[in-house]
Amino acid sequence: MQKNSMTFIDNRTGNSYEYPILEATRGSSVVDIKSFYVDTGLFTYDPGFTSTASCESKITFIDGAKGELRYRGLAIEELAQDHTYLEVCFLLLNGRLPQQVELEDFDLELRHRAFVDEGLKGLILSFPSQAHPMAILSSSVSALASFYYEHLNLEDERSYQEMASRIIAKIPTLAAFAYRHSLGIPFIYPDIERSFTENFLYMMRAYPGGKMKITKEGEQTIRQVEIDALDTIFTLHADHEQNASTTTVRGVASTGAHPYVAISAGISALWGRAHGGANESVIAQLEMIGHVKNVPAYIAKAKDKDDPFRLMGFGHRVYKNFDPRAKVLKKLQDQLKEELGLDSELMEIAQEIEKIALSDPYFVSRNLYPNIDFYSGVILYALKIPRNMFTAIFVIGRSVGWISQWIEFKKDTTSKIARPRQLYTGA
Ligand code: ACO
Repeated sequence: MQKNSMTFIDNRTGNSYEYPILEATRGSSVVDIKSFYVDTGLFTYDPGFTSTASCESKITFIDGAKGELRYRGLAIEELAQDHTYLEVCFLLLNGRLPQQVELEDFDLELRHRAFVDEGLKGLILSFPSQAHPMAILSSSVSALASFYYEHLNLEDERSYQEMASRIIAKIPTLAAFAYRHSLGIPFIYPDIERSFTENFLYMMRAYPGGKMKITKEGEQTIRQVEIDALDTIFTLHADHEQNASTTTVRGVASTGAHPYVAISAGISALWGRAHGGANESVIAQLEMIGHVKNVPAYIAKAKDKDDPFRLMGFGHRVYKNFDPRAKVLKKLQDQLKEELGLDSELMEIAQEIEKIALSDPYFVSRNLYPNIDFYSGVILYALKIPRNMFTAIFVIGRSVGWISQWIEFKKDTTSKIARPRQLYTGA
């Protein structure tokens, strides 16, 4: 018997089968059960993939027990503190941080690629004005596949990188267009002179002709502190290994579909409230609670098993200690309190929820801690980003993670079509 293996004994027959254990460089190793069905005639059963690794990856690592998150081996705290989102994009795509000249080239390339075909404006305008920006975003990203059909067949590294920078650069433009359409106001084109993150705020806020509102004090409406805060938010969302939306992207990739269609599917998966849609729901929930005095009643609702109410922004499949992204955001929230004029009433309610939940046996025994979505909303609110755009912000940050994972899947010669089995209990 091999040392690095696991033996499965079928008690019905007494037969035993041995499966190799593949060693991880960090975190849990895996039992390789690829031949399990052929050997035993049995399927394994794991709804929600709570114990199943669906791929091998070198991009992002999470240790849920320790509250650790690393992109390409580098800790999220260090990346959020010392590096820009564009550096993080380069890191995720290339496996290392860029040299200064590489960063400048990458930055310039994204600025050039931020424009979208004029035809897409027609598509966006055809949506009802009350359409949720996420519906418009997933549709328009899917439509991008028709403008760049050649990305279906990528031959060399250059074509992979071109395909990736295109989608990363264009998603903020489409997101801003979707938002402006919901207000019925003219679209603002990207400004080649503005950086990635600043450009997004500009496309959301500028007046026709590209003019920015000047306050009575003569202040420009995009402040560096706002750009930095949003840039950090993008970094914190950039990737998160095999979460629900990334698994969706990989699943669509596995059928050989166009990369942008896979990203569009990821956007749709992210929209759900159990995933990225939670950031929008957190603020809605804080507003619904309305006052600190009402918090205990809502905590009781969250604990009541007969009540479907859940505390939005609490709990995580992987983090069972704390979400390191939430820690970075909480610190940022405290730093920005004065400078951005965070909504103190919402913050008070959030702090009270956090205080009660973190000491309540229901939450403690289930390892339910605030996740990234619990803190991002209050900051996004202060950045004057409307609630229905919160999940679109998540999309902008995550686009690089999805496309990096898509590329890794495509380059992996052992990749197979995603096709799970089932436990049939029907007639
Ligand atoms: N409020 C109250 N109870 C909760 C919450 C919550 N937010 N989250 C989990 N629980 C309870 C469950 O009822 C369950 O209790 P039980 O053991 O008595 O049945 C237990 O904690 C475990 O919950 P599961 O749903 O089994 O955990 P799972 O890992 O499947 O789900 C999830 C994780 C979806 C994030 C869940 O915690 C949740 O719905 N949270 C609220 C939505 C949210 O914040 N989502 C954002 C996640 S982070 C992200 O995607 C960026």
